[in-house]
Amino acid sequence: MQLTPAQLEQFERDGYLFFPSLFSAAEMKVLLDEVPRIYAEHRPEIVREKDGVTPRTSFAAHTYNDAFARLGRHPRMIEPVEQYFGEPVYMHQFKINGKQAFDGDVWQWHQDFGTWHRDDGMPQPRAMNVAIFLDEVNEFNGPLYFIPGSHKEGVVAAGHDLTTTSYPLWTLDNDKVSELVAKGGIVAPKGPPGSMMIFHGCLVHGSPSNMSPWDRVIVYLSLCAVSNHITQFNRPDHIAHRDFTPIQCLGDDCLTRDDVRGLPWPTALTRQAA
Ligand code: SIN
Ligand code: MN
Repeated sequence: MQLTPAQLEQFERDGYLFFPSLFSAAEMKVLLDEVPRIYAEHRPEIVREKDGVTPRTSFAAHTYNDAFARLGRHPRMIEPVEQYFGEPVYMHQFKINGKQAFDGDVWQWHQDFGTWHRDDGMPQPRAMNVAIFLDEVNEFNGPLYFIPGSHKEGVVAAGHDLTTTSYPLWTLDNDKVSELVAKGGIVAPKGPPGSMMIFHGCLVHGSPSNMSPWDRVIVYLSLCAVSNHITQFNRPDHIAHRDFTPIQCLGDDCLTRDDVRGLPWPTALTRQAA
């Protein structure tokens, strides 16, 4: 999938793009069916909420679950980012964020590149998130909040939050958020399962808690231009990957085909016919 000139222009202006219902319900079911299996596992890749039980973030499922490995090679997710950076990309981070009904907690305001740069030594903001909704995201179940245009600020001052977000994150103070919101406002993309968002590594974002009875699972692929790979290995490799192999896409129908495998990751798979 390629971005149009109008979409590229919109991305430069706002720092994000939203594609409602880009994936079908059948494609999302393949992934959603795997989520309880992943949550039932007790592995270091699964970070729990403060109650110690509710799954919050499952890292690196593309390295041990075939359906998510296929998602990690999906051309609708990978190709627009390759196009934008003009080079192959590798998987810097992969996470299933299950903001669970009633118990899913807040993500403070932050920029992902702030953490990638300070903690992982990523040289430039030549990495970005592609996110896909496995559940409907609505105004009640903890949608992502974006400050449009905030990516143009570059890396802004932040404090190292060691307590509120289950693992350390560089978060912005309220004065800076107020200043940015006065310029750009706040948007919260909402839509059915299968909707996709792409957002710039410097876009300021966060999300409120989920007080609703509806789960809100969003999967994030953080894709980095291969030439911009990280240079410090401070965080565990299931959080900041050290495998800089360029992602080889599968065919566009890879999620629903029984004869296509995503694992092992990485492989030298060649592109399948669509
Ligand atoms: C993130 O910003 O990395 C996650 C936020 C969310 O899933 O709500
Ligand atoms: Mn983030």
